Amino acid sequence: MTQYILSIDQGTTSSRAILFTLEGNIHATSQQEFPQHFPASGWVEHDPEDIWRTVQETCDDVMAEGCSENDEVVAVGITNQRETTVLWDRATGQAVYPAIVWQDRRTADWCESLKKQSLEPSVNNKTGLLIDPYFSATKIRWVLDNVPGARDRAEKGELAFGTIDSFLLWRLTGGKVHRTDATNASRTMLFNIHTQEWDAELLDLFGIPESLLPEVMDSAADFGQIAGNGRLSGTSVMGIAGDQQAALFGQTCFETGMAKSTYGTGCFLMLNTGDKALKSEHRLLTTVAYRLNGKPAYALEGSIFIAGAAIQWLRDGLQLIRDACETEPLAEGTPVDHGVYLVPAFTGLGAPYWDPNARGAIFGLTRDTGIKEIVTAGLQSVCYQTKDLQKAMEKDGLRPITLRVDGGMVANNWVLQFLADILGARVDRPALVETTALGAAYLAGLQAGVYKSLADLSSMWRCDRSFEPNMTKAQRDKLYEGWSTAIRKL
Ligand code: G3P
Repeated sequence: MTQYILSIDQGTTSSRAILFTLEGNIHATSQQEFPQHFPASGWVEHDPEDIWRTVQETCDDVMAEGCSENDEVVAVGITNQRETTVLWDRATGQAVYPAIVWQDRRTADWCESLKKQSLEPSVNNKTGLLIDPYFSATKIRWVLDNVPGARDRAEKGELAFGTIDSFLLWRLTGGKVHRTDATNASRTMLFNIHTQEWDAELLDLFGIPESLLPEVMDSAADFGQIAGNGRLSGTSVMGIAGDQQAALFGQTCFETGMAKSTYGTGCFLMLNTGDKALKSEHRLLTTVAYRLNGKPAYALEGSIFIAGAAIQWLRDGLQLIRDACETEPLAEGTPVDHGVYLVPAFTGLGAPYWDPNARGAIFGLTRDTGIKEIVTAGLQSVCYQTKDLQKAMEKDGLRPITLRVDGGMVANNWVLQFLADILGARVDRPALVETTALGAAYLAGLQAGVYKSLADLSSMWRCDRSFEPNMTKAQRDKLYEGWSTAIRKL
């Protein structure tokens, strides 16, 4: 009999299930993309049934492929696109409106009016977040105000709110469990990260009845047992974390000062600040990194909305490439100082600018600009945005002691070399880059007693390759100055 941990990684563009061996190796994996809906400018929605169906099917796939009747799944971990908001009927489990995705900007005007009332400092003090449509609170309020009958039903306790982890847990447990973990709660803008409780004043400010909210648990906890007749029936969900926090955990960045940067749809740099919730003076977020045995560890986070999605746009929108893997040879054949800057502010700008109304632009086009310059500029934009975050952290007096990278884009060696060059810092790529799913598996494994300590997990991290900076300071400064000018023009 072989034992495994099943990790469900429900991301922005796809759902994935991965069976991990207890040694942290991938045994079987299944992935399915699902449709994105853009019903109006700046709006982004998912059909919760697509999310549920793809999660079920990918889990079924890996179980059929990798787990024989004699084998056992000891625990399940869930990690998820954060902030994305679902409200559902407690009686039927049916969502009352599509999932409003983290990228959705429909509440930008309302956020602006809250900022004009000078409410941001008090929201920031409690939640570590800045007032922005990105977080769940204004999305929940939008559903309550715009779906006929929703507010009444919410006030009667008939509806439930959840980020995607919570929605999946509800469905997986057959409607028995309404819980989330502290990392996901910390992205709602309703959770006080210092007291680790839902905040009554914030609920009042955003007009959200408390009865909607899930119970907040540690990230490694007994969340509930899977219901139904399937192979996983009776197995417990024992780990939950938002995907960026799960990546930090999977990268075993457990010491203060360790940082990871994940390049998926967006890019999210997180620096572990230990038991101190440091406050950024330069528009980074303070967030819960993980909570174990009731003790939160905190992180500073820089959130960039578009990273891999810029490459997707070059492929699907502009059709300049057929496959993301074409970008590496194209960039290799292009000088880094070609002069084109692509600012992929398709859904506004995140940290450190926080401008929901900004939109994308390309600067520096000349008659001889071709596909390779534009594609290279797309790759570089991801690195320049990371540099923006590094600068903000430095202004806050912090510099990561290590920077570990993961996510789909880190397969591209050119990107990681340019990243190291532009940051002027070493960048480490782990042997296993599915760190988000791995983090959820580690959390579940900790709770199940498979792993005894964080030190146990740290010893399992393996480096695939380190990228050392290899660019003069003068060139780095000149390139970055070009990026800063492009941002100013935007
Ligand atoms: O905060 C949004 C983030 O959790 C989305 O991550 O990996 O789906 O781009 P990803």
